[in-house]
Amino acid sequence: MAHIIDGKQIAADLVADVAAGAQAIYAAHGVKPGLAVVLVGEDPASQVYVRNKVARATEAGLNSIEHKLPVDTTQATLNALVDELNNDPAVHGILVQLPLPAQLNEEEIIARIAPHKDVDGFHPVNVGELVVGNASLVPCTPQGCLIMLQKTLGDLSGKHAVVIGRSNIVGKPMAMLLLHANCTVTIVHSRTRNAEALCKEADIVVAAVGRAEMVDAAWIKPGATVIDVGINVTEIDGKRKLLGDVNFADVEPLAYAITPVPGGVGPMTIACLMNNTLIAARNQLAG
Ligand code: GUN
Repeated sequence: MAHIIDGKQIAADLVADVAAGAQAIYAAHGVKPGLAVVLVGEDPASQVYVRNKVARATEAGLNSIEHKLPVDTTQATLNALVDELNNDPAVHGILVQLPLPAQLNEEEIIARIAPHKDVDGFHPVNVGELVVGNASLVPCTPQGCLIMLQKTLGDLSGKHAVVIGRSNIVGKPMAMLLLHANCTVTIVHSRTRNAEALCKEADIVVAAVGRAEMVDAAWIKPGATVIDVGINVTEIDGKRKLLGDVNFADVEPLAYAITPVPGGVGPMTIACLMNNTLIAARNQLAG
């Protein structure tokens, strides 16, 4: 039986630390760390994420400000809102929920957010800082995965980690964080030959592909630790169900440790967003 990594509990502990940090900031400066969350359109999954982010921010003693814009928002309007938030001293962190409607240029918006307020860690300046090992604001989902791995395994030095997926949000920054933690890192993706065989050599597998239950027991070495980033919404017998990228029932018996879906990566992503908002506020208030 694998150890089930309790993302909910690890996230709750991190949020409690953030709340203590936010209180200390309030005591010293009379301001709460402020997080602005921007949602464009009505995408149901994005609405759920944003609602969770705002609720958790309030619990952590942050000031969260939600901006909802219609689906037909123009680039000029969104640019103007980002400029306003960049210049607002009460806002320490800015998150524009992705994906954006097709008429909007995501790359342009990401680059427009002031790097010191970029709590997603997606701005090219922050991506560069991550690559050189100097990052202050690191993308939340991979940061959450790294924290769970370190809590479960301790020092990761020398371990072979396979990251499945090469997105800017998860796969690439995850690989970089694991490299900085002294892992030997392989990224496999849709064009990789023998992805399954490469993955079967890994001590650590991080699955971030967005395909329900793609990774089964054939991909996993006995005793490996498996982090499942997938949240695939599926209908089973008329009921809405969340499935990971990993076939949990198949992999769990042979893994050393594994994250559940839900209750693994999801809560950690939000907790890391709270933590990034605290870090951004500290940096800004320190001048
Ligand atoms: N959409 C899915 N994940 C994320 C994330 O981490 N940040 C933002 N801004 N949008 C997302």
